[in-house]
Amino acid sequence: MEDLPKITVVPPGPKAKKIVALDTRYLATSTKAAPIVAERAKGAIAWDVDGNRYLDFTSGIGVVNTGHCHPAVVKAVQEQAARMFHFAGTDFYNAPQAELAQTLCEVTPGKFEKKVFYTNSGAESVEAAIKLSRWTSQRKQFIGFTGAFHGRTMGALSITASKAVHRDRFFPMMPGVTHIPFAYCYRCPYKMQYPSCDVWCARILEEVYFQGALPPTEVAAMFIESVQGEGGYIPAPPKWIQAMREITKRNGIILVDDEVQAGFGRTGKWFAIEHSGIEPDVICLAKGMGSGVPIGAIVFRKELDFGVQGAHSNTYGGNLLAVASTKATIEVIKKERLVENSAKQGRYLRKRLEELAEAHDGIGDVRGLGLMQMTEFVKDRRTKERDPKFRDAVEVEAYRRGLLLLGCGRSGIRYIPPLIVTKRQIDAAMDILDASMRAAKK
Ligand SMILES: Cc1ncc(COP(=O)(O)O)c(C=O)c1O
Repeated sequence: MEDLPKITVVPPGPKAKKIVALDTRYLATSTKAAPIVAERAKGAIAWDVDGNRYLDFTSGIGVVNTGHCHPAVVKAVQEQAARMFHFAGTDFYNAPQAELAQTLCEVTPGKFEKKVFYTNSGAESVEAAIKLSRWTSQRKQFIGFTGAFHGRTMGALSITASKAVHRDRFFPMMPGVTHIPFAYCYRCPYKMQYPSCDVWCARILEEVYFQGALPPTEVAAMFIESVQGEGGYIPAPPKWIQAMREITKRNGIILVDDEVQAGFGRTGKWFAIEHSGIEPDVICLAKGMGSGVPIGAIVFRKELDFGVQGAHSNTYGGNLLAVASTKATIEVIKKERLVENSAKQGRYLRKRLEELAEAHDGIGDVRGLGLMQMTEFVKDRRTKERDPKFRDAVEVEAYRRGLLLLGCGRSGIRYIPPLIVTKRQIDAAMDILDASMRAAKK
């Protein structure tokens, strides 16, 4: 069956090895996770250059939510390519950009008038949110969180704090970012218990920070991921997010919700923040938005707009191929009820992961929302000592058996199949994961 994996040559096969060597010779060192050389992909399945077939539980880092090469998305991009690639929508006007902006304002949370600025990546969305917040508030300071990941350009990197290697040798950062501990309940930075802690990690802002080092009148914006992504797939309790909304509102601070990884149906709702029922002021988008054609956007309260020509712009934002892809992506998500499928299959995936956690004591925690799930690997459940070596070994055993996975946090694996994934594919993936953990333990 073409919807399940099949390994004929243990990867990397001979053709893959050649390309890995060529890549290593000519491409800058970045973040390579495995010597898998993909050639084509369809739905939740990818083929490598040696003819191996994999189940893709990475979705191109949470990008191809509609599945690889969804026919409706392919058709929309092909038709647009024949019509016009690019016409500098920041300088001139075109219908697809304006229509998509209207749709984005409709699907994103917030029952108020909004506007859109198009970008080309998640980091560029975060940069736009930084600039919009400073411009509008005329304040200079920002609040970020430990474990946060918002991208690698200098502004976004200054708010990022998930791994020291991202920031090492890149100082000085943009001045004015205060990082406070995130609501990571499995490893509470204050050694408290939820819910008896009464979300102290939110209350500490007004009770400690705003009383001393950080006058709230200086703070332009707070950047949150309601489910931290790269930092370890950590869903913050809704009560924490609600508390942050109240605190930011009380102090005139713009609340920026980074949905770059968690958005577009990934968590079983259109946007992760909807699990807490609050309305952010600015939403950062990218990844799942374009099904693989690079695009991002910020969607924000209308009154925050720059309002002055030239204050902010770019060349490619809202590129027409990417806009066509995004319009088709949104239609597919609605028509095929992919948000509902994400919630449904996410529940099943979670159940299977919890069953595996019963059988394998190397799994310390299982968490996530919808099809944004993770397992955190530990040496000892009581001490919670992290086990990154075991995590890495599981990933290798998994791809050798035809399951593609990506790590997150310091010792976690994320499970993020396309939202079209079937129960049968989840079962196949969990069987491979089970076998991989057994093999990695030896
Ligand atoms: C939450 C979040 N924000 C921003 C980014 C940066 O996006 P990009 O890699 O497209 O710049 C990422 C990327 O992983 C992300 O997960």
